[in-house]
Formats: sequence, C-alpha cells, structure tokens
Amino acid sequence: MIEIIRENHLIHLRNACISYVMVETPEGILAHLYFGAPLRQLCPHGLARHAGVERLSDFTVQECSLSRLPQELPSFGLGDHRPGALTAVAADGTTAVDLRMVSAEVLDGKPRLEGLPATFGEDSKTLRILLRDAHTGLEAELLYTLFEDVPAIVRSVKLCNAGDKPLQVTRLHSLCLDLPDDQWELITLSGAWARERSISRRALVPGFQGVGSRNGASSHQASPFLALVRPHTTEAQGEAIGASLIYSGNFTATVFDSQFNTPRMLIGLNDEDFSWLLEPGESLQVPEAALVYSQTGLDGMSQGFHVLWEGHLLPRRWVHQARPVLFNSWEAAYFDFDEEKLLAIAQSAAEAGADLFVLDDGWFGHRDDDYTSLGDWYTDRRKLPGGLGRLADRVRAMGLQFGIWMEPEMISEDSDLYRAHPDWAMQIPGREPIRSRHQLILDVSRADVQDYMVASVSQTLQDSGAAYLKWDMNRNYTNIGSIALPASRQRELPHRYMLGLYSVLERVTKAFPDVLIEGCAGGGGRFDAGLLYYSPQYWCSDNTDVLSRCRIQYATTLVFPPSTMGSHVSAVPNHQTARVTPLEARFAAALGGSFGYELDPRKLTEAEREDIRRQIAYAHATETTRLTGRFHRLLSPYEGNDTAWMSVSHDQREAIVTFIREHSLPNTLPPMLALRGLDPQLNYRVEETEEVSGGDELMQAGLCIPVKQGDAEAVVYTLHAVEA
Ligand code: GLA
Repeated sequence: MIEIIRENHLIHLRNACISYVMVETPEGILAHLYFGAPLRQLCPHGLARHAGVERLSDFTVQECSLSRLPQELPSFGLGDHRPGALTAVAADGTTAVDLRMVSAEVLDGKPRLEGLPATFGEDSKTLRILLRDAHTGLEAELLYTLFEDVPAIVRSVKLCNAGDKPLQVTRLHSLCLDLPDDQWELITLSGAWARERSISRRALVPGFQGVGSRNGASSHQASPFLALVRPHTTEAQGEAIGASLIYSGNFTATVFDSQFNTPRMLIGLNDEDFSWLLEPGESLQVPEAALVYSQTGLDGMSQGFHVLWEGHLLPRRWVHQARPVLFNSWEAAYFDFDEEKLLAIAQSAAEAGADLFVLDDGWFGHRDDDYTSLGDWYTDRRKLPGGLGRLADRVRAMGLQFGIWMEPEMISEDSDLYRAHPDWAMQIPGREPIRSRHQLILDVSRADVQDYMVASVSQTLQDSGAAYLKWDMNRNYTNIGSIALPASRQRELPHRYMLGLYSVLERVTKAFPDVLIEGCAGGGGRFDAGLLYYSPQYWCSDNTDVLSRCRIQYATTLVFPPSTMGSHVSAVPNHQTARVTPLEARFAAALGGSFGYELDPRKLTEAEREDIRRQIAYAHATETTRLTGRFHRLLSPYEGNDTAWMSVSHDQREAIVTFIREHSLPNTLPPMLALRGLDPQLNYRVEETEEVSGGDELMQAGLCIPVKQGDAEAVVYTLHAVEA
C-alpha cells in the first residue's frame, strides 16, 4: 500500500514486512524519515526527530542546515556537505541543484525502465515523484515500487533536462538512505579472480567507506551490494539493511558517517569516469536499486533478496524450471580437442545421467590458444569438420542437450573481424592498445557492433540448436575510448557500453527465450542482479576447489539464491589451488548451486564413475528443494573450521543439509548442527541414517553429524517429513 497523506505531507509505503516513510518539507524538499519494520500509523513529530528537528514545519533551508536533512536526492553546492546523490554542471559552470517537489502519484504495477534490467511484477504499486530545479529546469523522476510480501523497496531515478541550456550530469546515484544513528556495522563483498565475494564486516568510522568498481564490470573485486547491520546482528537475529544495485558496470556502494552520527548509504553508478551530457529535452535513466530490511538477521535479509529476485527479477521461464546437470568441456580439454574427443566425453556424461554437454572455448576461428579469433564466430573445421551442427546433433543423439560458449563482447586483433573493423574495438586514437588476455573489447556502445553481436550469437544458436549459452566476458576495460562518440560524450562510454550490452541481451533473449544463458566473466566477475535479469545462473568462480567454494558460495548467498550459482565438481588436483579433496566433498559443495561437472569423465576410475552416476541421480532428485527451497546458512567458513547450509522445501517436508569440515580434528565429538526452517511440529527421517527426530529437536538440540577423519570431509543429509 502506498499512501500520500496530503494533510501532513507524508508518504507511507507499507506492506506486511516494511514501512518506508517520506516527507515533503514546507519548502518542498523530499526527505525520508523512516525505513524499517511496518508501522501502523505515523506520528509526524516523532518522525521529525529523525531529521534532527523538533517539528517538520520548522524545517527551512535558512534555519536548519541541509547537512541534517535526510534527503531523497541530495545534491552538492547548496549546504549539504555530505556526499550527495546528484551533481549536475549547469551552462554557467556552477553545480548546485535544488530539487523541489512537483508531484506525487501512485501507479498500479510497475513501469519498465528504459534500456535497463529491472524488477517487474503485477502485484506491485509504484510511487512516482517528480522533483524540479527551477533555476536550471532539471527534473528528476523517482520511482519507488513495493511488492506484496517482499521486505524491500526498489528505487530508480531518471533525470530530464526540461530547461533550455545543456547540463552535464557528473554524478547520479540510484539510492540514498540516511539513518538516524550510526550503531551499525558495514558488510561488503570484495575479492579477486578465483577469490570472488569474500565477506568483510567492520564497524562504521566517521567519514567515507565502501566499495566500488571502475573495471567496466561489476567485477571480481567488489560486488554492487552493501549492508548495514547492528553490532549484535547474527544470522538469526537483529536488524540488517541491505542494498543491491541492478547493474553490471562501474558502481560505488558507500556509507558516509556524518558529524551528527547519521550515516548516509549511497549506491549507484561510479562517478569517477562518468559524465553525461543532457541537451535540452534529453533524459538519463540510471539503474534500479533494491533496499531490503530484516529484523531477523542476515538470514532474513538474504531471504528478502532471494524472494525479490526469484519473484521479480530472474527470467520467469527459468525460476521454477529444472536446471540441467551439465558437463563442461573447459577443464576437461581446454583448447585441445577434436570431434572424436568431445563425443567421447559427451558419451561418458550421457552414461552418467547428465542432461547437457557444453562445448566451451576453442571451437571457432583458429583458436588454439587465447591469442586469437575472438569475433570470428564460425566453426574451426580443423577441429570440427562437420561443423557445430553435426557435433550438436551427435551429442543430442546420445540423449543430451547441447550447449555452447561464446565471448560476444570481445575481439582479437588476429581475427577477420578486427581486420575488417579495427574501429569496432574500444580504443584511444594515438595510444597503443593495452591488451589483457591478449584481446581487446568491442565498443558495445555502437549500434553496428550491437547488431553484429546479435547476428553472430543468433547464428551460432541456430547452427547448433543449442539449448544453453555460456556468455563469457574475460577482461576489464583499458583504453576507454570510442571512435563513435564525440569528445563531449567520451565519459559516457562505460554506461553506454552497459546499455548496449543490455540491449543485445534483450534482443537475444527475446529471439531465443528457451535458451538457458549462464553468465560468466572469468568466473564470477560480473555476478550481479543486472546480468541475472537475462541469465538466471552465473558461473560463480573459475575456482572450483571445495574449500574456496565454501567461502565464495556462502558469501554469494547473502544476496543471491542457490539456483543462480553455477557450481561444478572438478578434477583433482584442483586446477586453481592444486588441492586434492575427496570426490564426496566436491560433490557436496557443488550441490549448493546449479550443478554440473568440469572434468574429463574418461579419466575417472570405474568406482568414481559409479559415484558420479549416483551423484547425478541425487542432484536430480533433490533439485527442487535445493534450488527453489528456502536457503539458510548454518555455519560460516569465515568464522570457523566448518561450513554448513541447508535448503528447505516450501511445504517444509523436505530438507537438504550440507556440512563441510575444512581441517580434520582429532579426538573431538561429532558436531551437533542446529538446523533452521523446519516445522517444529513435524518429525523428520534422515534418509542416510534412517533416524527419525522432531523438527523442534533438530532445530534446538541439533542434528548429529559424524564426520570422517581427513581434510575437506563432507556430509550431505536428506530429511523427509514422516507421519508421527
Ligand atoms: C573464462 C571462464 C572459464 C572458461 C574460459 C575459456 O576464464 O571463466 O570458465 O570458459 O574463460 O576461455
């Protein structure tokens, strides 16, 4: 429900889980007064103290500093000395923007965001607010959407130059939230290639803190997410406020703790290499941000994000659709394969009961290594003399679906594409290009490049009849320049690139709605809510080592549900860490996401192949609960030697519990693992031990987990409700 209470200028967005309250001050400035658990009624004077004033009617810019007012879209230059959400340079060179309320209205449902991925859903109401700066004519349209039973609001901002002179926007964040006290800790996710999304939690300090990316992708190094949690907040208890940006490019997610101990959360486009020219009549839409509130700890925050993405962001076609158990050729063969070898791998995969065989890198141009051929998306006949089509048909004849790898945003200098269109690469004329993985990036901001990408992806999907596409992106920006853009718009390139990419993905997913796209960027280098709008699963990391995956997957679930994480069993010694771990543990970790294999099954022993048959049967049997049930983290690898998580079916009748111990511990008692999310009134039978216990007992006393001696030992238990 969204109420615009005209008598006291309040706006109240409320559903069963949250309230978000805003006010229009006497001078027409839009401020927020509350975000948290749902409120039955509002007392404007009580809420006014959040803004640091006795009565809201007293708030005037002359009397009270803007530095105290929790504004919805604060800008720089008029007296708020905290970091703002908007900076625009007017034709006279000054930067002050003074936005005042023009109108507020409630819409049924949710309008689409022009050119950007965003949440959707019919069971929603949207508040549309228009603000205007009388001096420049700049207008801001703010959209706030509330879904039933989701503890979140989503917000976006669109600027329009309704004046008669050009404006240069140099900062525009999607979300700004000022909190009335600073008794919070900050959680962010940071990392590196093969070490994506590591949890960092620390006390707030005065001033500026946060994460961001300038890589041209949301990046391995940081995730477009941040959370503020109370110091005592745990998985199960305490307040948590999480923000996530639905965007895949450069961003910042920051907190500024002010002189009044009122921290300001900001999330949006990174303004370091950003500016956008708005000629009169032009507009700029920036990405949507989601803001989740939980009173039930990090678990509640994650449930909020998971429900939001599953119900309102991931492609509907795939949310409740079984994900194929796949075998990917990359670590099995790298660039070294021919048709015969691929078919032999696929045959073993089929015999093991897999659903899909994916041909990874190396099938096109003359790509025997990573120096060449990106952009030349036609089959290398030396390796596949019958073409992609024949290989795919032969794979399908084995009862498997066929999937293919592409890296459509890239170009190798040694390619026919580059020889024909050297201007299609991102570049700064006169500067030597800086290569990474020996390749350049296509200037995806260009319409002709976008058309080429759509055509080559479409052709490949048609030729192969692929049911699955792994869409990779293996390097970050260098030489950020576009031959197609004038000097005045060069700093628009990073965002224009993303708009171009989204438009290509929109066209491809419309034309091939039944193709499952798995996103990838050198592993999880662009694992964000923006990409998940098109590709419901994402290759979580190139690192498939069990112990590394415990940390990466555990942290990823803070924001994203298990179904979104591509996770595979790979060979040992592990190709990234050289660690040797038991097959059972690799299986246990991979079961935590959309499941598959990244190895050559022909190199396994007969006993291991038998294990894999059993594993795949189990993955199939438990798919619905594992991937669409409610997910709970139980033991954190960031806090101890053990990792545990579980998924519970929505009817609470089935649960899958995973426990992984890092280092072997001699002479200890088996851990009692306190479960979550079960029905305390039901009894559950553990399939593997045949023991029956009450749901209440399993959650209070715990489930006994006898762990074998040895490093990286794992236990997976399957619980079924039984009649008492
Ligand atoms: C990236 C991906 C890998 C694989 C290679 C192929 O590194 O993350 O999974 O597809 O590219 O070059």
